[in-house]
Amino acid sequence: MSLIDADLLIDNASQVVTCAGPAPKRGAALADAGVIPGGAVAVAGGVIVAVGPAADVRARVRARATLDAGGRALIPGLIDCHTHLVYGGDRAGEFELRIRGASYVEIMAAGGGILNTMRQTREASAEALASQAEPRLREMAANGATTVEIKTGYGLDLESELRMLAAIARLAALGVCEIVPTVLAAHTVPPEFKDDPDGYVDEVVSHILPAAAAWHAASRFAARGIRLGVDVFCENHAFTVAQSQRVLEAGARLGLAPKIHVDQFTSLGGVEMALAAGALSCDHLEATTPADAARLGASGAAAVVLPACAFNFGNTQFADARGLVNAGAALALATDHNPGSAPCLSLPLVMAIACRYQRLLPAEALNAVTINAAHALGLADRIGSIEVGKRADLLLLKAADYRSLAYVLGDDPLITLVTLITLITLP
Ligand code: NIG
Ligand code: FE
Repeated sequence: MSLIDADLLIDNASQVVTCAGPAPKRGAALADAGVIPGGAVAVAGGVIVAVGPAADVRARVRARATLDAGGRALIPGLIDCHTHLVYGGDRAGEFELRIRGASYVEIMAAGGGILNTMRQTREASAEALASQAEPRLREMAANGATTVEIKTGYGLDLESELRMLAAIARLAALGVCEIVPTVLAAHTVPPEFKDDPDGYVDEVVSHILPAAAAWHAASRFAARGIRLGVDVFCENHAFTVAQSQRVLEAGARLGLAPKIHVDQFTSLGGVEMALAAGALSCDHLEATTPADAARLGASGAAAVVLPACAFNFGNTQFADARGLVNAGAALALATDHNPGSAPCLSLPLVMAIACRYQRLLPAEALNAVTINAAHALGLADRIGSIEVGKRADLLLLKAADYRSLAYVLGDDPLITLVTLITLITLP
């Protein structure tokens, strides 16, 4: 038997937690993290070439170097499939207003919230936006993220939305994480169209989305086979189901991957519409009905829940993650990092909240930020699990038991990481 040549053998892990597919994981499969006790992994050219029990991998591989995992757990790099990482300024003032009793929706209806951040974002150059976001991205990576989706949505005019995309491209060029861009021009109605929301939807559909698609076609993202997402906030004070449908259908016609902020506060019927429009994921889902959970379960779309958001509001209304799993939905978790509803930079913290308030098992939470989050981005064929042929985005934990990731609270950094091996060597 000929040996497999490898650049690196990672040997002597207490556990290799594969999160192996088939992707996405649904129902009982979500509770299986694919733990190989005493495992090893071999990597060549940034790709996984062997994984299994250590004795077996050692016998099959000829490696140029070996890393002793020292009896710690090795897991796939984490994937944050829903963030708003790029924005100007902050909303610490609104944080204080909420503590004093104002609600997020009240602040939004009074012209704060997303519009507050829009004003601060419109004033910033692409360079300034990227340099404000860079430390946040590095913190996410320090907390285990190796792929991060980033949305626009604080420009809300053609020029400012393209500037946000340019900032996202600058962040991608840092090589800290794989970045997946999404255009969320329909985040809320900007002041110029205050009395004419349909006029703004016309602008999004006729001008902003085509310009974003053209930008993407010429970008490094297209060259790497990473699609541009199109997202819309379907909610009272934002966009109706009919308006959201126009946005997603226009994006899909341009080849963009539809996603939706849906049922955050109100169930308006957006899930059914988004699934018909070919949504890759439906996100938030705090107010989703059992009938819509069943629709999600019968669909190929990921159900992305964002518990840092309710936690940040001090709410008890978390998405019914258990109900979604029981309905067969492809559950994923993300930070939803943004300056208003979820100033959270840690997927392990999100896992910790989901385990405690949504009663997910640690294995379910881990699959939800790896293989199923990859599915939510349409990238499950290349990332999200430790399987032969996948990119070697790997995390070596400080602990021997992967459950420590959700179990330990407030470690510094929040994840118990000693080594982050991110080998992004593909084009
Ligand atoms: O996912 N709900 C809509 N959008 C974001 C919040 C954006 C903001 O408050 O700035 C969310 O929660
Ligand atoms: Fe969001």
